[in-house]
Amino acid sequence: MHERCVIITGANSGIGKAAAIQFASKGYTVIMACRNLEISKTAQTEIIKTANNRNVHLMEVDMSSFHSIRSFCTHFINKFEKADILIHNAAYFNHGEKYQLSPDQIELTFATNVFGPFLMTALLLDPLKKSDDARILFAGSNIIKHFFNEKTEIHFDNLQGEYKDSRSHRVYKMYCQSKMALLLLTFKLAEEYQEDGIKVNILQINGAKMSKQTINKVKPWWRPIAMVQNLFFPPAAYIANNYYEICTSDEFLQTSGKLINDKLEIMQPAPNEKLGLYKQLKQIIGSTVYPIYAENLEVKEQLWELCKKLTDHKL
Ligand SMILES: NC(=O)c1ccc[n+]([C@@H]2O[C@H](COP(=O)([O-])OP(=O)(O)OC[C@H]3O[C@@H](n4cnc5c(N)ncnc54)[C@H](OP(=O)(O)O)[C@@H]3O)[C@@H](O)[C@H]2O)c1
Repeated sequence: MHERCVIITGANSGIGKAAAIQFASKGYTVIMACRNLEISKTAQTEIIKTANNRNVHLMEVDMSSFHSIRSFCTHFINKFEKADILIHNAAYFNHGEKYQLSPDQIELTFATNVFGPFLMTALLLDPLKKSDDARILFAGSNIIKHFFNEKTEIHFDNLQGEYKDSRSHRVYKMYCQSKMALLLLTFKLAEEYQEDGIKVNILQINGAKMSKQTINKVKPWWRPIAMVQNLFFPPAAYIANNYYEICTSDEFLQTSGKLINDKLEIMQPAPNEKLGLYKQLKQIIGSTVYPIYAENLEVKEQLWELCKKLTDHKL
């Protein structure tokens, strides 16, 4: 068995699967953390064959369910000594207006994309501490550019169904807010884990070609848009290579608490000043700066407290 072990959530398709192939090809022990074992078994077989590495293990986890995450982590700890790399790649993305609750009665997008990853990270602290170079990576998105509009904020008051019948709801907006929350969570986790030498970063993904299966998961009216987007997006393997570089290369050995763009450059907070239209457009289109909202300490602490409260985990 390769002495370095990587856990990749959502490794059965898209970027996660491409990353599993890349890590396995380089001899890593790969844990595919997936919710649908039947579909994922086919992917596992393909990854083992393509990478010529039998150390590709499939383990069940539904990232929207705290019970399932606890069970995954218990099984992982019983079976494997340590975790070197944890890649939070799985995410719920869709459109529509239906407010859905997770098994723990939390808005589904946030449960899957934010609170689930928080809990998994917290529960895997001991195996991560056993690594001499532990790295955690979150899959971010350039969708956070909506926060360049200073009226955009995370709506913390409706994450447990408080206004599910009385307030308009957009799944797309929740996805956008969840990716901003992940950026704030990355900053906070990097601070918390600094003493343990665990590095925590987030990659800003501007797009990656989606497979037919991925496109079929979203609303039918959005599928043609996704197909057109696909013409311009890089292959999933390109982003997977970014995962690999951030989690393995010497260049990122000491990097923690950073948002990294698809050219593997570290992004900076946008200047806190009013800009002209041209500069605003440049900010939105470019990938050098992120919205200043992510630097809001109050929001970061609010998110942190909520993560601990909802998952009932002290950290
Ligand atoms: N592709 C892009 O253009 C793009 C752009 C920006 C950011 N990203 C981010 O990149 C990451 C990978 O996306 P992708 O494009 O590769 O999409 P994808 O092919 O749809 O992959 C998403 C993965 O997440 C899994 N997943 C979803 N909900 C889950 C749950 N509750 N429990 C466990 N696994 C779950 C899916 O499993 P199932 O197969 O069972 O559904 C799938 O394996 C995501 O975090 C996404 O937000 C992608």
